Amino acid sequence: MLNVERIRKDFPILSRRINGRELIYFDNNATTLKPIQVIERVREVYENHYSNIHRGVHTLSMEATELFEDSLREISRFINADFEELIPVYNASHGLALASLMISMRFLKPGDEVIVTITDHHSNMLTWRVLSGIVGFKVKYVYPGAGGRIDLEAVESAIGQNTKAIAFPHVSNVTGVINNAKGIIEIARDRGLLTVVDAAQSVPHMPVDVRDLGPDFLAFSGHKMLGPSGTGVLYISRDLVNDLEPIIAGGGTVEEVTIESIKWLDSPWRYAPGTPNIEGFIGLGEAVRYLKRLGMDNVRSYEHELLRYLIKRLEEEKLFEYIEPVDKNSDYSSKTATFAFNIGDINPNTVASFLDMHGIAVRSGKHCAHLLHSHYGVDGSVRASLYIYNTLYEIDRFIEVLKEAVKNFIK
Ligand SMILES: Cc1ncc(COP(=O)(O)O)c(C=O)c1O
Repeated sequence: MLNVERIRKDFPILSRRINGRELIYFDNNATTLKPIQVIERVREVYENHYSNIHRGVHTLSMEATELFEDSLREISRFINADFEELIPVYNASHGLALASLMISMRFLKPGDEVIVTITDHHSNMLTWRVLSGIVGFKVKYVYPGAGGRIDLEAVESAIGQNTKAIAFPHVSNVTGVINNAKGIIEIARDRGLLTVVDAAQSVPHMPVDVRDLGPDFLAFSGHKMLGPSGTGVLYISRDLVNDLEPIIAGGGTVEEVTIESIKWLDSPWRYAPGTPNIEGFIGLGEAVRYLKRLGMDNVRSYEHELLRYLIKRLEEEKLFEYIEPVDKNSDYSSKTATFAFNIGDINPNTVASFLDMHGIAVRSGKHCAHLLHSHYGVDGSVRASLYIYNTLYEIDRFIEVLKEAVKNFIK
């Protein structure tokens, strides 16, 4: 069980008032708030250990290098990966773009096919589309089935003779629906496809074990799991990581360069050109330690409790429609504490601004998922996404304010 009252004390920003009200932060899929442990860690690095890494034999550089590498080790253990499988990048978008770039340039040719899903965030789709225009492969789309999930049968039937890779979200950033990533990967592997998993909304919310799932590539963002912004991870499986050559290279990626040849460093360094977000990754290491202390199983079950309560309250009030077909008979165990909705025809931005006037932060718009919104026939939605510091009391308050919004806007 999580001690939420204690957790809340670790987040200084929760004591802020917004428009004269207590802050209720329900925009966690966009980014999470930061605990004092992470804030102080970053500050401590600047005050005492800051220098460039891998650049010198001087004391500060060696200290910064050790702290940075220790954090990468901590993060790799968090998803049960090897150190060499974990490439430090700047965010999930960067990691997913690198994965699609590497696959496109190294493995694909004109006439090949790559599968993506209608439920993907733009960051797991648009670079594929750009590259398809350059390389000449085709992008194919899989649609969600009942309850918004990507069904295994749909994946199976989309795979053709020329399909070489599949990219999909572990969890939808709009609906919070959790896909059967292991099942999709097994099908893909049987058919010889490379797999790219967008884990931006799963790693922060549930235990994720790459050995169990078995993807070739998987990416997530540090800032969505209590860490600093400008940090992300691209996981590349050990079967590929030291055989592939980087597409983007530069300082710190090579052992030796001559006019005739390049000898790359081992992973992860061959994939990490230039100066990384040193203090950010040291902060992310601290964030991971924080989540580990809570226990990811506890995080998952607390979020599930929040979701069940939220849905129960919404059902009682019959305030609005979810944008995806929610299975009302389920216990919602295949959803994170995220849901997207509309109140009648009211513009989602109007609802979000009304909530903000009452101190409640939510996201409105299409959440970088235009195809999913078109699929559900809506022009946008309001999205509430909850995390470890949210409470049942905040849900009650959220419902009260929504009721006021209905009164105000629906005559
Ligand atoms: C599912 C999903 N994928 C990718 C991203 C992109 O993350 P970032 O903005 O950190 O690159 C997001 C961000 O909201 C997301 O929710």
